[in-house]
Amino acid sequence: MKTITMLAAALAVAGFAAFAQDAEDPFADTVEMRHGLMLQMATDLGTVGAMAKGEVAYDAAVASKAAANIAAVASVISMAQWPEGSQYGAAADSYALPAIWATPDDFLTKIADLNTAAATFQVAAATDVDALKTGMGALGGACSACHKAYRQPEE
Ligand code: HEC
Repeated sequence: MKTITMLAAALAVAGFAAFAQDAEDPFADTVEMRHGLMLQMATDLGTVGAMAKGEVAYDAAVASKAAANIAAVASVISMAQWPEGSQYGAAADSYALPAIWATPDDFLTKIADLNTAAATFQVAAATDVDALKTGMGALGGACSACHKAYRQPEE
């Protein structure tokens, strides 16, 4: 009997600890997840950017892989990573602006635009360095169009 009581008490404490953590920041995992998606795209954009600048020799296979990664990540992005309440000032580490939930249709359009740009860029990246350079403009534009409207600049 005593063992059972102690076990129950231990479970209750463990359960409470998990709950307390969640109650403190229910969006911690979501914010971390979307940062990871964004950072993966930024890393791949950096890879092709280095080729565009001539810092690294153009390599069709490497450029294609980076472009395919961006398209894959873009396809994962949906409203699911942006739950209401996870905005800048409310959720830790979030730089997502409340405008996302004021104009969700436009935010979804920006996601669709990213997917379109990423698909087009896959062809450009596989072609040659000139096509890659030209293609990067539209792709980077899709990133910055959304950031301008929906991302709080970091101080
Ligand atoms: C549909 C809108 C949208 C598009 C398109 C978009 N982003 Fe973002 N991005 C955001 C928002 C909103 C944030 C802030 C998220 C947060 O802090 O929770 C962000 C944050 C970031 C961050 C910071 C991550 C961190 O750890 O703080 C990077 C880097 C980034 N984006 C890169 C990119 C790149 C590269 C592209 C294009 C290939 C892109 N983003 C396209 C909306 C977008």
